[in-house]
Formats: sequence, structure tokens, C-alpha cells
Amino acid sequence: MDKAALKTTADNLVKSGKGILAADESTGTAGKRLASIGMDNTEDNRRAMRDMFFSTSGAAEYISGVILFEETLGQDRVDGKHSFATDMMAHGVIPGIKVDKGLEDAFETGEKVTNGLDGLPERLAGYYQQGARFAKWRSVFSITDTLPSAACIAENCDRLARYAKMCQEAAIVPIVEPEMLMDASGAGHTIDQAYAATVRVHKALFKKLEEHGVYLGGVLLKPSMVIEGHACDVCTTTNDVAEMTVKCLKESVPADVAGVVFLSGGQADTQATEHLNIMNQIAEKQGGLPWPLSFSYGRALQGEALRAWGGREDALENARATFLHRAKMNSLATKGLYTADKEDGLCLGKCACA
Ligand code: G3H
Repeated sequence: MDKAALKTTADNLVKSGKGILAADESTGTAGKRLASIGMDNTEDNRRAMRDMFFSTSGAAEYISGVILFEETLGQDRVDGKHSFATDMMAHGVIPGIKVDKGLEDAFETGEKVTNGLDGLPERLAGYYQQGARFAKWRSVFSITDTLPSAACIAENCDRLARYAKMCQEAAIVPIVEPEMLMDASGAGHTIDQAYAATVRVHKALFKKLEEHGVYLGGVLLKPSMVIEGHACDVCTTTNDVAEMTVKCLKESVPADVAGVVFLSGGQADTQATEHLNIMNQIAEKQGGLPWPLSFSYGRALQGEALRAWGGREDALENARATFLHRAKMNSLATKGLYTADKEDGLCLGKCACA
């Protein structure tokens, strides 16, 4: 295992002011995004959607890497001149790849396990050849009075650790993503329940990573923020979420981990930015944390731009400006420098500019 190379890649992904774009929606999920703007789920439309984001001029100032779905990693840009991965590398953006094969019902509790370990070393070797230098594996956990169950935590964390080890042996930085679902049907858990569950899962995960000999300096953690479920009727503030999340990370994440890159999990775009911003302000007040806190957002980076585009050629530039703006706001948040008055009229409806 080349630890130095892994560390360099991981550090570059969380370089000051930069974060990750998660554009790794499976074909089915990409179809839902396209349907939301009235487009069919064809390969050409998926390519056009990705091209809109990836060819945004200036985005490399804020985006260090992009997580891709397998189809996109091997795909050419709309102009047919280069593959997406080649084009990204030319702009100093690191291509990544989602390698898990999705979720399966596996427990009597209704909880799910993530599949994708079969043949993974061979797939990783191919992804490396195509330019991928980091990967993602997502496990999901529901929170109730009795969940997540010990069995679900043990199995998913074991698979995350085995995936991480295989990645590192293939010179690919693993992102380990244990997602606490905040927007699953019925998610009514409180922020305190989210805190307890997240600490439990993180502790189990890092124990497994240690058991499997995973090098933490070449790992990024992609956690959920500690936040109540969508259906919870006990309101919390932005500060509560930020404070509880920082406290949770300090309690459950080893200092050697290269970085923390949050998922947005169904939060509104500006809410995800504000939470990250306050966490970085707290970190500064506390004299720094062992790891950079950044973003690996999917919906919270892409949603508004997608609506601005709507599949229309004449709306492309406005959509790209909307995406660039969101990336810049999140870049500021990685330094604790975001303020709502920096929203500037490109966000089309939801933010302070409207
Ligand atoms: O696995 C989840 C994605 O990579 C992040 O998506 O920010 O929309 O939750 P999200």
C-alpha cells in the first residue's frame, strides 16, 4: 500500500476552500432528477446533465473532486472530444467513483445492507485505469427507539472496512459514508437520538477499519450532520445542529482521519451551507479540529442549478452560474466565512436574494 500517495490524494480532496461534488446518482436516481425537470431518463440526457455541471468554468476553484457513477466515468463529454475524467484531470479536479452496488433488505427489522464487494478488486483496477483516484461506499441507517440494530451496524461497518482496505490496495482513497437517514419515510427521530446513533455507528466503523488494517491518513469520512428527522416535531436551531455535530465528531472520529466531507441528506441548499459554516466557526473558536470539515454534497450543490437549467440550451449559462455560486458559498463555509448576504441573486427563489 502506497500510504504517501493515498495521503496526498486525500489531502488534495480537502484542500482549503475546496470540497467534493457528489454526482454519482445511479441510473434510477438520475432518472428521478431528470423527471423533476421534465426530461426522459436516456443516456444522452444523463450525459447532458453531467456535462452542464462538469464544464462550469471556474468550478475547479471550489471543487476538488467529483464522485461519478460508473456510466459517467467511461463517458465522453457532449462535444465528444474527451472523456469526462480526462477533462476533469486537465482542470486539476480528481475523478472519483461510487463503487457500491446499492442496498438490499437484509434484516427482520427492515434495515438494509450495502452490496458490492464481489469482484471489487478487479473493478477498482479498471476504475484506476480510467482515472479514478478515490471512491465512495454508502451504508444507510434508520433511527428509531430501537434502531439502528447491533446486527445492522456490525454488518455494514464490516463491509465498509473491507471496501476501504480493497480501495487502498488499489491506490484509491476510500470515502466511507455511514448515512443516518433524515428523510426516510417516518423519520421522526430527535436530534439527541441522531447524536447517540451517529456516535455508535462511527465508533463501530473505526473499530472495524482498525481491525482490517485500513490506513486512516488515506480515508475520508462522509457523515451525516447530527440533525433531527424530517418528521420530528421538536425544532432545533442551526447552532444546535452545528454544535452537536462537532461534539459528535470529537467523540467518535480518530484524529488520524484525513478529512470529513459531509453529505447534505435532503437539507435545503442554504441550510447545508449554513451548518457547515457554523461548524467551521466553532472549530476556529476551539483552536481547530484534527480534520478539515468540508462538503461532498449531491442535492445541495446541484438542485437549484438543475431547476434553472430545465434541459433548455438557452438556460445553460444561467444554470452554470447558479451551480458556481452554490459551490462558492460552500467553499466560503469551509472557512467559516459564509454570510447570507453573499447570496447574490443567482439562487432563483430560496435564498436571501429573492
Ligand atoms: O450518497 C449520498 C450522496 O453522495 C450525497 O448526496 O448530498 O444529496 O445527500 P446528498
